[in-house]
Amino acid sequence: MNIAIDGPAGAGKSTIAKEVARKLGNIYVDTGAMYRALALFLIRKGVDGEDGEAIEKHLDEVDITLSYEGGSQHVILNGEDVTGCLRTPEVSDMASRSSANRRVREKLVELQQKLAKTTPVVMDGRDIGTVVLPDAGLKIYLTASPHVRAVRRYMEMAERAGTDTGSFAPSPEDEAQIALIESEIRERDYRDTHRENSPLRKAEDAVVVDTSLLSIGEVVAEILKMAGERDGRL
Ligand code: DC
Repeated sequence: MNIAIDGPAGAGKSTIAKEVARKLGNIYVDTGAMYRALALFLIRKGVDGEDGEAIEKHLDEVDITLSYEGGSQHVILNGEDVTGCLRTPEVSDMASRSSANRRVREKLVELQQKLAKTTPVVMDGRDIGTVVLPDAGLKIYLTASPHVRAVRRYMEMAERAGTDTGSFAPSPEDEAQIALIESEIRERDYRDTHRENSPLRKAEDAVVVDTSLLSIGEVVAEILKMAGERDGRL
């Protein structure tokens, strides 16, 4: 059974989707990483993210494939493993802009649909339940408040920088950084939900899970329960 998980940035999609996939033995597909790889290509080419014509001119030069090592996804851009280069604010911004382009979406959606035909997947993104896998056996719409999502992003960055966040008590500087991230998140949410092509929205038959007050384990357990129920029914 294919599982579609959509929702805004920072709702916990990738952590949760990865864990659900591991438990079910499905392949986890992070479609955001594919949009990010394409964005990285455009940045390297010096293309303006708002220039649709320039973006489309370069699309045929881009080859994106996914490979899996020990269950984790690697994104290969024209033969180069770019997995470690995709999480910068610059790439986030370009991905949010270039993913609004219809031809960009057509190219990546085709790839995603091919993948899901060959193997059961847990796929996360923005348009998985609505466009990529409209027949998915289970569709989840994960969400959380912009503030909670900003705090999570900040903690992730702090942990990556080697800070022990075990007993985190935010200083005024931390608060200022979190407020900045929150405003970027709100801006991205706006762009993702208001674009003309495949805007982020809940599929009619998706189940909404608000992760603001839930632990990762609780959300995973809830999704596995629903998957089990659906599987029995299908
Ligand atoms: O999930 P993420 O933050 O890695 O996604 C990066 C950008 O790509 C984000 O601005 C939304 C876009 N995206 C999309 O339009 N469709 C998807 N299926 C996945 C991501």
